[in-house]
Amino acid sequence: MTIDYSGRVAVVTGAGAGLGRAHALLLARRGAKVVVNDLGGSVDGNAASSAAADAVVCEIRDAGGEAVASYDSVATQAGGQAIIATAIDAFGRIDMLVNNAGNLRDKSFIKMGMADFSAVIDTHLFGTAYCIAAAWPRMIEQQYGRIVVTTSASGLYGNFGQSNYAAAKAAVVGMMLSLKDEGAKYDVRVNAIAPVAATRMTADILPEGTPELFRPELVSPAVGWLCAEECTESGAVIEAGGGYFARVQTFESEGVVLGRDCGVAPEDIRDNWAKISDMTQARPFANSMGVIAKVLQNITA
Ligand SMILES: NC(=O)c1ccc[n+]([C@@H]2O[C@H](COP(=O)([O-])OP(=O)(O)OC[C@H]3O[C@@H](n4cnc5c(N)ncnc54)[C@H](O)[C@@H]3O)[C@@H](O)[C@H]2O)c1
Repeated sequence: MTIDYSGRVAVVTGAGAGLGRAHALLLARRGAKVVVNDLGGSVDGNAASSAAADAVVCEIRDAGGEAVASYDSVATQAGGQAIIATAIDAFGRIDMLVNNAGNLRDKSFIKMGMADFSAVIDTHLFGTAYCIAAAWPRMIEQQYGRIVVTTSASGLYGNFGQSNYAAAKAAVVGMMLSLKDEGAKYDVRVNAIAPVAATRMTADILPEGTPELFRPELVSPAVGWLCAEECTESGAVIEAGGGYFARVQTFESEGVVLGRDCGVAPEDIRDNWAKISDMTQARPFANSMGVIAKVLQNITA
């Protein structure tokens, strides 16, 4: 069956350009009423303009869809509340929240002031938290919600010059993995995408000549699936770029018990490093309680 969002209301943050625009267009094309949120500033998150959100609203309406603009910043609690209130005021509900808005302040850590650190954490981590916090009670109440957070290969694997951005992008994954359990019995599903796309954010990063390969539209099907009513997946991270889709998951090695008394020394870790690091029997866990159960099982065996 074709995935369709008729009767559903979506908020896409940072939807005035790049990936957010592509996500908003896809959802609207398939029947969702969409709040196109964008602060309309520069890539570092400074300045603001209504033009970016307005242009995407026009695109959606010109194609026969329904959309309204929101110019609030995700980076304040009042902004997050106002963004979700826009959906309620215009369309009466909120079913899908795509947390996509983002900025960059890349610098090696030695040169990074804490203002650059905070500006990125405020947008990506708090911006995600503020919007979810405003939407969450309604989704729990109506027993339905689809939330997508946007992480990054930087947050999953690290990247030189992006300690602020990587910290924020890793944090939204931890948040998503906890909310998946809190939302489960209310049919509120929370997942993440880790995109790769040619946007102004990656203009200096992607190899020359590849922008055409990495069109943002090629990422949006992952968001479309995670926003679908039939998608009951929760807690997944999908890497998506250029038509490539893969699942990313944390695995833990089988591990080794080196002793149950306080006699284990740093030398024991050194001497058993190969066994500790052996990922051949590695497995993932549903949540932290699963890890605790495994440790307990190992040390009491
Ligand atoms: N492009 C990639 O390859 C890539 C890779 C990994 C992650 N991401 C993530 O994908 C998301 C979209 O990035 P993009 O590549 O489309 O970049 P982009 O700069 O084109 O889009 C980001 C949008 O967010 C908006 N924005 C910034 N701060 C905001 C705020 N405080 N409130 C509301 N809107 C705000 C900007 O105005 C912009 O339109 C970001 O979260 C980014 O970190 C992108």
